[in-house]
Amino acid sequence: MIDIKDRVKSAAAAAKITTAEKAVEYIKDGMNVGVSGFTPSGYPKAVPLALAAKVRAGAKIKINLCTGASVGPELDGELAKAGALASRMPYQTNKDMRNAINAGEIAYTDIHLSAAAQNIRYGFLKNRRGIDLAIVEACVIKDLGNGQIGIVPTTSLGNTPSYVQTAKQVIIEVNTTQPVELEGMHDCYVPLDPPNRKPIMIEKPEDRIGTTYIPCPLDKVVAVVPCDVTDKTRSLAAIDEDAKHMGENLVDFFKAEVKAGRMPKNLLPLQSGVGSVANAVINGLVNSDFEDLTVYTEVIQDGMFDLIDAGKLRVASGTALSPSPDCLKKFYANLGKYKEHLILRPQEIANNPEVARRIGVIAMNTAIECDIYGNVNSSHICGTKLMNGIGGSCDFARSSFLSVFFTNSLAKKGAISSVVKFCSHIDHSEHDVDVIVSERGVADLRGLSPKERAPLIIDKIANPVYQPELKDYFERACKACGNSQTPHILTEAFDMYDRLAKTGTMVKK
Ligand code: COA
Repeated sequence: MIDIKDRVKSAAAAAKITTAEKAVEYIKDGMNVGVSGFTPSGYPKAVPLALAAKVRAGAKIKINLCTGASVGPELDGELAKAGALASRMPYQTNKDMRNAINAGEIAYTDIHLSAAAQNIRYGFLKNRRGIDLAIVEACVIKDLGNGQIGIVPTTSLGNTPSYVQTAKQVIIEVNTTQPVELEGMHDCYVPLDPPNRKPIMIEKPEDRIGTTYIPCPLDKVVAVVPCDVTDKTRSLAAIDEDAKHMGENLVDFFKAEVKAGRMPKNLLPLQSGVGSVANAVINGLVNSDFEDLTVYTEVIQDGMFDLIDAGKLRVASGTALSPSPDCLKKFYANLGKYKEHLILRPQEIANNPEVARRIGVIAMNTAIECDIYGNVNSSHICGTKLMNGIGGSCDFARSSFLSVFFTNSLAKKGAISSVVKFCSHIDHSEHDVDVIVSERGVADLRGLSPKERAPLIIDKIANPVYQPELKDYFERACKACGNSQTPHILTEAFDMYDRLAKTGTMVKK
């Protein structure tokens, strides 16, 4: 067995060290299981792999899996493929999980990531029950005395504090690939629930209000399992010309805002969404003149590490590190340097709307598509199929100082227009979208009515291939509706999707 004795400082916890196969005995059919992990970082691996093997061998176990957000293939992928999941919440990005959800095999609940922890504590989960069992990854277990241990998390914090606080039983995976030096990077704080909640005393991204470990009563811990499987973080797409242009467009927009006195010289705390586009846009800031930047965000991706390397980022607060495999290596090799600039918080604090509104976050998220009035869809393909989920995008967009969305004007080599007549699914309504940026330009929608927004979005964001159809639709809709507040021809509003389904392209022949 892998030796974890040096990492388990409590003798009573060390007495519970066992194998993943033994620990799996605690997982029963129908349980609500809460796990650590967020954007393939800091999730348990050994116990989920053992559970998948047990189900493949014929055990009749289906659990309700609750995570922080997306987790790695050993967890989401293996359990989905083994048929070990009845339901899943919240955000995911795994291909096998997505396929099972879209095939109706797994019930998926997509909720705002800042709201998940409170739902967990109140038991607003499957069967209106709380968490039966928590499985969490740690790099160290501290002895706090008085029958308490301190779980030192690894590369994410997510919902782990609330899973540990509310679960009846806890399994801790001590992962020897996660450096013990991660200790000190976390700031664990669980707010009281209404009506007893207090203000969250964060006034700057660098403020700390909690502990560096998750407290846990020893008698809840049923197993401590050694693990040496690494985080499987995802590679990011190479930064292409379109992404570069989006980054440049954003930097130009920020420069104009600073010049007009609407933002300080070092901007306001930045939030940046998940995925390749968001990462590429942050990269635009690496090559800009902006300095002394701060970040109050959900995930800390490669671009933020590059900003630290360039000496341009003072502090980044998030709930998870989400580096590419190469960037993860760089992080481990220079942990001391990066740790000075990074704070990981529970996701209900990292994405907290109260804090985001107070400190004036600039929210920057990626859209799958937007419509001519500025509604944004970031979770569904053609109205019915799930892509990933909303993640924390709504947490930030609605509560931000400025809500920016990025989209390429085209998808799937031009067969799809990312600007449509009416979004097939809306996650961010026109009321939460201030600015849209594409590789073609910037549509600043602040202060504009829907009818003033449409020509701007068609002109600055839509691709020339689709501009004539969108313009024609808008003009006819205005006439058909007698110039009403938000003109539409409802029988025609979704016809681009219909054409795509029938001909394989939205382009009008
Ligand atoms: N229609 C159909 N498919 C589209 C599309 C459209 N209008 N726009 C993009 N896509 C497809 C892409 O082709 C790509 O498909 P592939 O995986 O088969 O190659 C996929 O969607 C991802 O698009 P990509 O351009 O690579 O962007 P990304 O990696 O930056 O991800 C989102 C974009 C929207 C999927 C991602 O940001 C997301 O899940 N967002 C929601 C959650 C969120 O915003 N979280 C942040 C909170 S802090």
